[in-house]
Formats: sequence, C-alpha cells, structure tokens
Amino acid sequence: MPYKFVPKMKSIVLEDFGSVDHLVYQELPMPSINDGEVLIQVKAISINPVDVKTRSGKGRAAKLKDEHPIILGWDVSGIVKDSKSDLFRSGDEVFGMINFPGHGKAYSEYVSAPASHLALKPANVTHEAAAAATLAALTAWQALIDHAKIKKGDRVLIHAAAGGVGNYAVQIAKHIGAYVIGTSSAGKRDFVLSLGADEHIDYTSQALEDAISNIDFVLDTIGGENIDNSLKVMKKGGTIISIPSGLNDAVAAKAEALGIVGYPIMVQSNGEDMKKIAALLESGSIKSHVSQVFDFDQMKAAHLLLETGRTQGKIIVRV
Ligand SMILES: NC(=O)c1ccc[n+]([C@@H]2O[C@H](COP(=O)([O-])OP(=O)(O)OC[C@H]3O[C@@H](n4cnc5c(N)ncnc54)[C@H](OP(=O)(O)O)[C@@H]3O)[C@@H](O)[C@H]2O)c1
Repeated sequence: MPYKFVPKMKSIVLEDFGSVDHLVYQELPMPSINDGEVLIQVKAISINPVDVKTRSGKGRAAKLKDEHPIILGWDVSGIVKDSKSDLFRSGDEVFGMINFPGHGKAYSEYVSAPASHLALKPANVTHEAAAAATLAALTAWQALIDHAKIKKGDRVLIHAAAGGVGNYAVQIAKHIGAYVIGTSSAGKRDFVLSLGADEHIDYTSQALEDAISNIDFVLDTIGGENIDNSLKVMKKGGTIISIPSGLNDAVAAKAEALGIVGYPIMVQSNGEDMKKIAALLESGSIKSHVSQVFDFDQMKAAHLLLETGRTQGKIIVRV
C-alpha cells in the first residue's frame, strides 16, 4: 500500500469530565471539510464559562459525552486555509462562534467550520480582539437586539456588566441609545462606566431597589435570587432575559403577575449576527476588552482563572 501522508495538528482533548488535568494535548489528523465549510488556521480562541462548565461535566457535557474525541471551545479568529463555500476564500481572516450549542472543537491549531457561522475579521481588529467578540458578544446581541429589541431611551439593567457578556451588552445597549445601568463589585466600577454605562451599582453593598426603578429590560447573567431582585425594579411590560438559568416556576409566576415577560435564551451560531458585530468593531462602536492572553500550552491556567468568576472583559488563548 502506498504511504498516505496525513497532516497532523496539535489539539487539546478532554479525556474525561472533571478537573483541568483532563485537558490533554494530542497530535490529531487535521479536520477535513464538507460542502459549505472552511478550514481555519486558528490564531486566537476565547474561552467562556460554558467551556469550564462543560469540562467539569455540566454545561454542554450531556450533549458531547458520546463524541470521541471531545474538543472544547467554540470561539475563534483565524485564517481560512481551505474553503468549500462561496462565502470565504483561502487567505480570508474570519472570526465566529462555531457550531454552538453543538461540538465546536476550537481548542486546536486548525478547525473546520460552517462558513455560515463566520464573518470577515475587520482589518483594524486583532485576532485576539476578534476572538473575544464571538460567544459573549453574540449572546449580548441576540438578547438585546434579536429577542428583546431594545430601543433608544429604554432603561436597561445589565448584570455582571464587567464580565464577558456584560461588557458587550453595555456597549451594544449604549450604541442603540439606551440608558444603561451596570452592576459589578466596587473594584470594577470605573471599567463599567468606561464602557459607557450611565450608572453603576455595586451589588456587594447596594440593593437594586434602593438605587433604581422603572427598568424596561434586564439582562440577568447571574440567575437565582438575582432574577427575583431584578423584578422589584422593573416596569410593567418590561422584559427580563436570564442566560444562566432561566426563571423557575415561582419566579415566572411572580413575573407574570407583575406584567413582566421573562425567559431564558441559548446563544446560537449565526454569521449574519457576526457581520453586525464585525461592523460595530470596525467602526469602533464597540471594543473588545481582553484582560489576559494565555499561550496555547497554558489552557489549564486560562480555565483556572476563568472559573474564579472574576473575569473583567475576556480571557484569550493565543494559538
Ligand atoms: N444562555 C446562553 O446562551 C449563555 C451565553 C453566554 C453566557 N451564559 C452564562 O452567563 C453567565 C455569565 O457569562 P460571562 O461570560 O459574562 O461570565 P464571566 O465573564 O465569567 O463573568 C464574570 C463577571 O461576573 C461578575 N459577577 C459575579 N457575580 C456577580 C454578581 N452577583 N453581580 C454582578 N456581577 C457579578 C464579576 O464581577 P465582580 O468581580 O465585580 O463580581 C465578573 O466581572 C455564565 O453563567 C454563562 O455560562 C449563557
């Protein structure tokens, strides 16, 4: 039999659900691409709480448990090396959230991706900044724009405004012309205000109802009693979207009685939404705030930092 050369790449395989020690570096065959897909040489990966949750057996673990090998990660920026799509050619710089909520396989030197999940990376944005503006920015965009359809003048409350989703949500809401209130601990107050928030609430020392009222839209990024507390400051007819947990039956009933609409959402890969985010990044209307960049061989350290829950902006892994 003639020898067939199979190009290899370095990937991080999740050998079992649990601690960071289950993230194992392996040489794997480069992915092949199907019609409508592109092969991306990954330059930067952003990591999210769902990466950490899935690694530990929650998040998307139930969905991925029968896949072999499991390769975490959904958020990339990189260079197209091969294309079976009319949307992108070899050499194009692209970014996006791949196959979420499915199997993204982004913790690799190369990844295959549906072209319909990607957008061209603006030339004035680095791969690190572009990779940051994927799952987190898409979640903020889909919650505020696609679902809630916030509008100019709305009073908008963004919880965890300094975090991955929250920092984009503040910027997108301001871009729309909303009046934005952001929560964080005191140490991140200046950062939240620098994003454009009109008001800041230190959730460690202030009750929401002592500080604000008449809120049209709440982005809940915390879950649990944070939803209950948010209802106290909302207008009749307002909307609350909860991204970690959704509303339990008791809280949903309370919201309904107050005339408030509350529901969870799950972010979806979407190249059209990515193009809108690309345009905002290109024009400078929103910016990525990358607080720490790790090298590819430091993925475990990146996970350990993210799981402290104290991230400001985004954490990026450079490939
Ligand atoms: N459903 C979906 O599609 C979807 C999509 C994206 C994310 N999510 C979920 O949404 C949550 C947030 O994601 P993320 O990427 O924004 O997380 P993240 O970047 O890890 O959030 C970190 C931030 O949370 C802040 N924080 C922690 N507790 C807080 C509290 N009680 N009140 C206000 N701020 C608080 C921290 O600020 P301090 O240090 O000042 O406390 C920190 O800046 C996660 O549970 C994630 O899994 C769901």
